[in-house]
Amino acid sequence: MPVTQQGRGVIERYRDFLPVSESTPIVSLGEGNTPLIYSPRLSERVGRNCAVFIKYEGLNPTGSFKDRGMTLAVSKALERGTRTLICASTGNTSASAAAYAARAGISCAVILPAGKIARGKLLQAFVYGAKIVAIEGNFDDALQIVRELGESAGFAIVNSINPARIAGQKTAAFEIVDVMGDAPDLHLLPVGNAGNITAYWAGYREFHAHGRSTTLPAMIGFQAAEAAPIFHNRVIEEPKTIASAIRIGNPASWKQARAAIEESKGGIDIVTDAEIIEAQMWLARHEGIFAEPASAAAIAGMFKCCSATDAIFSFKNIREGSRIVCTVTGHGLKDPDALRDKIENFQPVAPKIDNVRQALGF
Ligand code: F0G
Repeated sequence: MPVTQQGRGVIERYRDFLPVSESTPIVSLGEGNTPLIYSPRLSERVGRNCAVFIKYEGLNPTGSFKDRGMTLAVSKALERGTRTLICASTGNTSASAAAYAARAGISCAVILPAGKIARGKLLQAFVYGAKIVAIEGNFDDALQIVRELGESAGFAIVNSINPARIAGQKTAAFEIVDVMGDAPDLHLLPVGNAGNITAYWAGYREFHAHGRSTTLPAMIGFQAAEAAPIFHNRVIEEPKTIASAIRIGNPASWKQARAAIEESKGGIDIVTDAEIIEAQMWLARHEGIFAEPASAAAIAGMFKCCSATDAIFSFKNIREGSRIVCTVTGHGLKDPDALRDKIENFQPVAPKIDNVRQALGF
């Protein structure tokens, strides 16, 4: 990457592919350019000489992929003279919106389902100075309110119903193609409001159309078993899952996600909360990558594709040596409570070498 693009974020890097002009004021925290990490143990689990890579989006400035779309949405809002951002969120969008609003020197209002936001994400929205309103309802209710509020002048909605969010998030696909030299064969990711799968597919198609890649990946999405409207093809009134980021019953980009899955010959499948937590622990302990539960849903999904006979997309039929990318959408530290039941109750011992040795068991 040329030094003039270093640390300046995804707009500077992919300006030619994004709806900005010379006069757009760029609000960036240096997002993007996240590592594509080769994962030997995941590759081993998939077998057949396949290579699995993690796109670790938890390393963005606010710890999730949302920053890619937020830099563009906030820059465009500023260009139009907006002074207040507004969004509904399951946590990460609000954290990101709050940070970019702070950076831009404008205000931000976030509408959240009360008691349903991971602790780290709520802390982020607060510390970046957002005005937080908790509603007695779920994410889908919050988004409905935001849609209505956003019709009044002066507000910019920065949910993924704002096309700038999707445009910015396409840059994750651009980076993958740039690093791999081509598109992967398969791309796995969790699906909530369905903006990200829409954005990746748009990004892959765009680079393909520009001759930057020779192939297109099959897009494979995963929803939590009790929050799976796209999988079941019906609105889920009361979505439930430990993966609070994807606890969504009526996704805004439902149709676009369907199109991405069908056009790419991919699939959409479900994973249980137990599978999600098991995959989260497995990834941390075998690859050293700490994903939040929503992100671990895609890892759990990968395991399902490897072995389950009822998997929608079976890896048994994929080409030998396939290249598989899985997006880890958010950092595990955002949601410490998800693993509350797993953490051991550490009993302190006397500060003596023998006691410590005994406690260690070796
Ligand atoms: N993973 C994480 C960590 C998320 O925060 C989200 C969405 C998703 C996956 C799903 O992405 O909605 O584009 O399909 N979080 C939104 C939010 C809804 O409000 O932070 P999607």
